[in-house]
Amino acid sequence: MLDESGAPPASPVLPNPLREGLAEERIPEPAAMVIFGASGDLAHRKLLPALYSLTRDRLLPSRFAIIGFARRPVSDDQFRDEMRAACNEHARRRPLDPELWAAFARNIFYQQGEYEDPGSFLSLKQRLVEIERALGLPGNRVFYLATPPSSFASVIRSLGQAELAPKPPPLGSPKPAGGPPPFARVIIEKPFGTDLDTARALNRDVHETLDERQIYRIDHYLGKETVQNLLVFRFANGIFEPLWNNRFVDHIQITGAESLGVEGRGGYFDHAGILRDMVQNHLLQVLSLVAMEPPVTFEADAVRDEKLKVLKALRHVPSSDFDKQVVRAQYTAGSNAGQTVRGYREERDVSPTSTTETFVALKLYIDSWRWAGVPVYLRSGKRLPKRVTEVSVHFKEAPHLLFGRRGENIRPNVLAIRIQPDEGIALNIGSKLPGPAMEIAPVSMEFRYGTSFGVEPPEAYERLLLDCLLGDNTLFTRADEVEASWAWVTRILRRWGEETPEGQVSLATYPAGTWGPPAAERLITADGRAWRLP
Ligand code: BG6
Repeated sequence: MLDESGAPPASPVLPNPLREGLAEERIPEPAAMVIFGASGDLAHRKLLPALYSLTRDRLLPSRFAIIGFARRPVSDDQFRDEMRAACNEHARRRPLDPELWAAFARNIFYQQGEYEDPGSFLSLKQRLVEIERALGLPGNRVFYLATPPSSFASVIRSLGQAELAPKPPPLGSPKPAGGPPPFARVIIEKPFGTDLDTARALNRDVHETLDERQIYRIDHYLGKETVQNLLVFRFANGIFEPLWNNRFVDHIQITGAESLGVEGRGGYFDHAGILRDMVQNHLLQVLSLVAMEPPVTFEADAVRDEKLKVLKALRHVPSSDFDKQVVRAQYTAGSNAGQTVRGYREERDVSPTSTTETFVALKLYIDSWRWAGVPVYLRSGKRLPKRVTEVSVHFKEAPHLLFGRRGENIRPNVLAIRIQPDEGIALNIGSKLPGPAMEIAPVSMEFRYGTSFGVEPPEAYERLLLDCLLGDNTLFTRADEVEASWAWVTRILRRWGEETPEGQVSLATYPAGTWGPPAAERLITADGRAWRLP
């Protein structure tokens, strides 16, 4: 891996992505992190708690500053108090350690400003320089865009105009005598565009100011421990890879289910829908890790090159089969954990005539040598019976069944990778029931994170913030990946918006607390298969 200057980074590169526990190898250089949108939910619930937990685990450098930037006029001390309350509520490492908090809070600052105002960025620059001088920081900076997406382009333009994020020297330039210049990196939250055209336009805007090596497009699913474990599971174990193809795999299922509804985010969600909110980013990223070829190394671009190939190989759903391969639906009133809950159209900030989908089920194909003919069934929805994210790989039946009637209970092997909750991996196999008869029953061989390692996995944001500070963008989405997944998703969105001679593609409904509409069942049972009950 090269850093922005084209030179190898100071800290050693380890060949294995499971690098937890090697804390001493992963301490980043002293730096300042500016959080745009510091008054928002993300900063409170995720970012500051993640930074505190990293400090608690001694994974941040001792010289590190956090500068919150937002429109509200708030003093440094008020901001620190708010962040203390936020960390108290949300940090993984709780209760807060008073001494550690005092030291952490001393390096938290607040800067009021407007995202479109060049003057605000000049003031920010001045403040940053003062803070860096006072704390002896070398000028390394990370800018986190936790703002509404409509401000992404203007914040980046303003950073450029204020010369806050200079591009690194081109790759291959001679090493500067005094060592590499300080880094400037930018983390961009989701959603990155709302379709292919807007994603392309945003990439163009961003690239006017920044080099791709400075850009960290965040998809928090890639920071989840079990998602990373997909790579280790596949490529550190010799026994699965030979089976990981269309000779042995019958089909793959991916479920991203949530029991919650839109939870006060109706205004955003009603313009997004589940396809944009969950599938374009999180689930297609998970699919790309499940289906990618082994990369030649674990360097960021080698991994992302392979993921990109999967996204580019997604076959567009043909119009003739659209209704057989794509089901969209919206929840109506129903129940959740024994409580009656309202329908989507009755949610706050949702149009009472909304046709936004809160559930989608898809059947798709990856047109590659490895996966030709293997269907992938994917579903995601709000207000489903439970919160679960799972990938299951369903193997073909044994070629010849020897056991006659006694083998009736033999089921094809299924490898289930549980991403959340109860993170773990289970392999279903057929086993002989104890006793004199040759009776066979399915059993499960299981590994669970909680029981095997006895530790709570770190929050996704902790891992991702740390990786960005270390200059490792393996777990961040590259421009071409984002565009490839939007290219596939946008065709579906267009079709939903079209008036065809048969009328608009229908929107089914399902009562809250169920696994989607009957059409989602038909999508898979029509092929003689069934959704796995996660
Ligand atoms: C977010 C979506 O990106 O991911 C939310 O905007 C969704 O709608 C969330 O609830 C799911 O994340 P997790 O980590 O809870 O599975």
